[in-house]
Amino acid sequence: MGQLLGDSVVTASGQEHVRKRRQLQPAFGRPEIARYVDIMRDETTAAVDSWAPGRELDVREAMVKLSLGMLAKTVFGGSLDEATFRRLREDLSVVMNGVGARVMLPDWVERLPLPFNRRFTAARDAVRATVEQAVTELQESGRDSGDMLSLLLRATDKETGRPLTGHQISSEILTLAVAGTETTASVLSWALYEISRDADVRRHVLDELDTVLEGRPIAFEDLSRLPYLDRVVRETLRLHHTGWLVTRRTVTETRLGQWSVPAGTELAYCQHALHRDPALFPDPLAFDPDRWLDDAQTKAFTPGAYLPFGAGKHSCIGERFALTELVTAVATIVRRVRFDVPPHRTVRPVARATVRPSTLLMTVWQRSDSAEQRQD
Ligand code: HEM
Repeated sequence: MGQLLGDSVVTASGQEHVRKRRQLQPAFGRPEIARYVDIMRDETTAAVDSWAPGRELDVREAMVKLSLGMLAKTVFGGSLDEATFRRLREDLSVVMNGVGARVMLPDWVERLPLPFNRRFTAARDAVRATVEQAVTELQESGRDSGDMLSLLLRATDKETGRPLTGHQISSEILTLAVAGTETTASVLSWALYEISRDADVRRHVLDELDTVLEGRPIAFEDLSRLPYLDRVVRETLRLHHTGWLVTRRTVTETRLGQWSVPAGTELAYCQHALHRDPALFPDPLAFDPDRWLDDAQTKAFTPGAYLPFGAGKHSCIGERFALTELVTAVATIVRRVRFDVPPHRTVRPVARATVRPSTLLMTVWQRSDSAEQRQD
């Protein structure tokens, strides 16, 4: 990925990784997340407005678009005019799809002069140019645009004491777009699928939202007051985890259960399989948000059995951001629309860059439609 997107927090290791992670951290702090909620909710509302009631929607595709929109608006909302923002979002989308496709391909394919590669390179370079120009403008004007870009610009390189360069910032942003879009989109799609196909789960989610929000749009303060939705998200992250291969290299001889693994060994684990292990989760294929209800039972889960955001130094920097997106988007969507899952269609998980639904076509209905309201 370093070759494709430049050096970033994902590709760095050791001290270099610690340094890069510290530079990014302020952008993911609690006070910032509180400000991002409104952006996430507004992006979701705009997405819902664009769906045609009574028509089938490719929900996965819509969630990819929405996740990219939420992230891009958070990063650039105050720094780019509308036309530049739209172009940038398109370019980021090409980059994301390109990286996704390359996960399955050998490295040499990236170097072939194919239209697919040219499109990718052009889009990536366009993103870099836009970010670098925005950084220069912000630096020259001294303006605080109030978005994540401005925050990243205030982060200084610990060794030089200087702010990050436009190039460094664009590498990090490209990485965030890749790490934080497909993942969120897959989990969002599965959450909507599970809510839509189980009337009890849906009723419970809606009742909680009605009681807590009393008709208001969701805000930051509400995030911690929706325990059932929280369990739905938790259970979606268990049953439909997006990760099928996380790798690590041992730096010293390491004990792994009964085995001793020499230094320099490549190890891999599969979160998707881990989260469906019957020895760890009873009835693992059932979508049951209430398995998280019993605190004592939850505590009894084997440590390391549930790793939605990984573990250790490279664990997900976007965890809080992602959970905020998931709750905000699901709450906003299910209050406005309901989805019908066609009974004859099976939705299978497929492993691409993430484990995601094969296709997820569902029919959209406005909740205010009288027939729908009666069913609610
Ligand atoms: C539901 C959504 C998400 C899931 C399930 C998820 C999961 C993960 C996991 C399991 C890792 C660790 C990989 C490893 O151990 O090697 C990771 C790393 C990472 N994630 Fe996420 N992620 C999500 C959303 C996001 C978002 C929204 C962002 C940013 C806006 C993000 C940014 C990152 C970055 C930068 C890393 C690398 C951290 C490092 O190497 O220090 N992720 N993510």
